[in-house]
Amino acid sequence: MGYDSITTELLRIEEAGLYRKLRRVESDQGPMLRLDGRDVINFSSNNYLGLANHPSLCKAAKEAIDRYGCGSGASRLISGNMTLHEELEEKISELKGTEAALVFNSGFQANTGILSTLVGEGDVIFSDALNHASVIDGCRLSRAKVVVYGHCDVDELEQGLKDAPSNAQNLIVTESLFSMDGDEAPLADIVRLAEKHGAMVMVDEAHATGVYEPSGAGLVAKLGLGDRVPIQMGTLGKALGGFGAYVAGSKALRELLINRCRSFIFTTSLPPAVMAMGMAAVDLVMREPERRQALWNNCERLRSGLKELGYSLGDSQSQILPLMIGDATQCMKLSEDLLQRGLFAQGIRPPTVPPGTSRLRITLMATHTREQIDLALRAFEEVAREMRVEDRG
Ligand SMILES: Cc1ncc(COP(=O)(O)O)c(C=O)c1O
Repeated sequence: MGYDSITTELLRIEEAGLYRKLRRVESDQGPMLRLDGRDVINFSSNNYLGLANHPSLCKAAKEAIDRYGCGSGASRLISGNMTLHEELEEKISELKGTEAALVFNSGFQANTGILSTLVGEGDVIFSDALNHASVIDGCRLSRAKVVVYGHCDVDELEQGLKDAPSNAQNLIVTESLFSMDGDEAPLADIVRLAEKHGAMVMVDEAHATGVYEPSGAGLVAKLGLGDRVPIQMGTLGKALGGFGAYVAGSKALRELLINRCRSFIFTTSLPPAVMAMGMAAVDLVMREPERRQALWNNCERLRSGLKELGYSLGDSQSQILPLMIGDATQCMKLSEDLLQRGLFAQGIRPPTVPPGTSRLRITLMATHTREQIDLALRAFEEVAREMRVEDRG
C-alpha cells in the first residue's frame, strides 16, 4: 500500500460507514466510566466480575513490582521465565482441573500460536462461522484446510468430518460462549462428534472463564466436559480483570507448545505485576462465588427488562446481550443517542460481525447496581419510543 492508497483506503472505510475512532477513558474500569469527558454507565466492558480495579489485584501487582521489578527482561525460554509465571500456571490448572497450563501474552497470540502448532498442511480445521478473529487468523496461519461450519450447526460439522480425508489430522475449534452473540456452543455434541471421528477439540473460553457456575472454570467445566476437551484456552483480560491468556490441558500439550509455538517462543514474557494480578484474580474467582451470582442476577434483570420493551436479544444466554439492529449506521446512531443519555453501549459493525447484523453489544458486570440497570432500562425505553416514532414518520 503506497502513501496515497492509505488515504484512499480511509475514504473507502468512511464511505462504507465503517470508520472506527478510539474513545478515551479517563477513569478506572468500573461500572461508571469517565468517557471523553462525560460520566457514563459502562455497559461495554468485558470486566464481567469487576476485578479490573479490585484492591486485591492492585495490591498483588504493587507487591510484585516491589519484589521483582517491572519488566521480565526476555522471552520465557531465555531468562524471562520467572517464579510467578509458573505459579500462575499452577493456579490456572487448579482452577481448570487440568494437569498443566501455559500462559500466553494475549488471547490473540494464544489462538494463533496454538492452532498453527497443532495442525499444518494436509490437516483440516473445523471452525464455527462466528469464531473470533484470532481463531480465524490461527486457522490461516496453520496452512491446514479450513472448513467453516454454520454457527453451532453440529449436522454440518458432522458432514464435514465424514468428508475429511482419512489420513488428515482433524481439529474442531469453537468458542464456548460466543463473544458477540452471548450464546453457547453445543459443546456436548461437539465433543461426542470429535470422539466419534477421531478429531481434536479446542475450546476458546475467553468470555466464559470466571463466569460460569459452579467453580468459575468455564462452560466446559460447568457441563462436566473437562476430561474430554484436551485444549482449553482462555484469557486473563476479561472476567479475570488483568491481562494475558492461558491454555489448560495435558503436560504434553504444554511441553509441545513450549518447544514449537512461535507466538509463545518469540516474544518477551509478561511482566511480574501481570502474573501477580492474574493469581489474585484466580484466587478471587475460586473463593468468591457470590461475584458470579451477582453477575447472573444482573443479567436476568436487564435481559427481562429489555425483552419487555420489545428488543430482540438473539439467542443470548449470558452476560453478553446483543441488541440486534442490522444496519451499521443506524446501530452507531443508537449507540450515540444512548451515550447522550449517559449510557455507554458500544455499537458493533462489520467486519467484527457479519454484514447486516450490526448490534449494540451490551455487557453486564457483577458490580452494576440495580439503580444503574434500571436507569439503563429507562434510557432504552426512551430510545425505543423514539425509534418507533421515526419508523412511523
Ligand atoms: C473469543 C475471543 N478469543 C480471543 C480473544 C483475544 O483475547 P485477548 O484480548 O487476550 O487477546 C478475544 C478477545 O479479545 C475473544 O473475544
